[in-house]
Amino acid sequence: MSRLVVVSNRVALPREARAGGLASAMQAALAEKGGLWFGWSGRTVAEPERSIETLRDGRVEFALLDLTAAEHREYYLGFANRTLWPLLHFRPSLLDYHRDDFAGYRHVNALFARHLAPLLRDGDRVWIHDYHLIPLAAELRALGVGARIGFFLHVPFPPAALLSMLPHHEKLFPALAACDLVGVQTQTDRAALLGYFRDETNAQVDGDVVTMPNGRRFATAAFPIGIDADRVAAQARKAESGAATKRLVRSLEGRQLAIGVDRLDYSKGLPQRFDAFGRFLSRLPEWRSRVSFLQIAPPSREDVPEYRDLRSRLERIAGATNGRYAEPDWVPIRYVNRSFGHATLAGFYRVADVALVTPIRDGMNLVAKEFVASQPADDPGVLVLSSFAGAAEQLREAIVINPLDADDIGEALERALTMPLPERRERWAAMFDTVRTQDISAWREAFLQRLAST
Ligand code: UDP
Ligand code: G6P
Repeated sequence: MSRLVVVSNRVALPREARAGGLASAMQAALAEKGGLWFGWSGRTVAEPERSIETLRDGRVEFALLDLTAAEHREYYLGFANRTLWPLLHFRPSLLDYHRDDFAGYRHVNALFARHLAPLLRDGDRVWIHDYHLIPLAAELRALGVGARIGFFLHVPFPPAALLSMLPHHEKLFPALAACDLVGVQTQTDRAALLGYFRDETNAQVDGDVVTMPNGRRFATAAFPIGIDADRVAAQARKAESGAATKRLVRSLEGRQLAIGVDRLDYSKGLPQRFDAFGRFLSRLPEWRSRVSFLQIAPPSREDVPEYRDLRSRLERIAGATNGRYAEPDWVPIRYVNRSFGHATLAGFYRVADVALVTPIRDGMNLVAKEFVASQPADDPGVLVLSSFAGAAEQLREAIVINPLDADDIGEALERALTMPLPERRERWAAMFDTVRTQDISAWREAFLQRLAST
């Protein structure tokens, strides 16, 4: 069996609790069969001289690269997270483009290629992940790497009209053609990817195969990423009797619970969600003191100004809502800015009556799937899901809303809190079946089989 080499900017190091779908998913995907995981160490160093640090955890070997402060600023904070992230999440007004950042991004991709190429063996399959590493396959090819290379984009792929707003986009996205297979989360993303290559690069598109003007071909397909549903379900069953879940349940004193779990990111629709909860309490006073909303929001990318602004904004909204509606023995929004391990989260999901998953844009949203997998079959909770999350293409039995309409969220919340048990069971059973059958192993196998056969 040939070795799997996963390459991503963020790596989930052993026993490190870190919020983020890519790290959670790849940890689960590599756990079963092992392989090499190459990526950024998470450290910034002063000296540009550096070596690869290697670690082993069970069947997974890690090869980690440090970045200098300047590389981190231009590549990660700059081009990846202030240019590409807002663009790919349909927020061009937040896009901040600088030529130096783009140069730094390309430099780090070349650096990754230079350090990865000597580690590759004959027969390895290389699987590159996410928007940080779009030019990497082309850099590897330039060094003579002939291995099969797949690329998977965890975030949305917007339509060509939006992508072409990026200055010099023609120097970036066409580099994906160096891959043998480019995977995206949804059919909508796949159509946009094909549209971009057809309209912006003069490529020939035949079914799901793209042929570039220079004759290079690559395949495209949607592979909706999943979770290890059986493991999450087992964690949730176990956590139900654990101390953290019991404390949470006791603190509710019989009230219903709505939960949200998101990195503190403007793509997640948190201000809109907080506003919606405030409007819900204003419009339906009978719900005051009867439902609590727990929002877990670990800070993310705090050196990016837009993320710091969001944090202040949320503190203001949560403070104002709580000030207006709280009672001496009840706080409407429990707003928690720290991260929790998967096992603890599974217990919280299990005892929640409703999950509010209301991103403005999201590649997939694994929290939606984790919530479903954590529910008790006899008395399951209800998922309120944004139509702009990739998960909405699969989880059609959720209450699907438009997160830009606060009253849409509020009405969905009321419907969820009062939904009769038979309807809850029916919706949940269909979603659980999807989450279990289209799980992380199925995702990995579908991608790798397709990569082998293209
Ligand atoms: N997560 C976590 N601890 C937290 C909050 C989130 O481990 O305190 C995990 C969560 O369980 C999920 C991932 O981070 O696996 C978030 O993935 P998702 O696809 O929902 O969003 P992303 O952060 O990738 O945009
Ligand atoms: C999203 C991205 C991932 C990223 C994660 C956490 O899931 O698609 O690539 O790892 O957010 O963000 P961070 O910047 O901390 O890696």
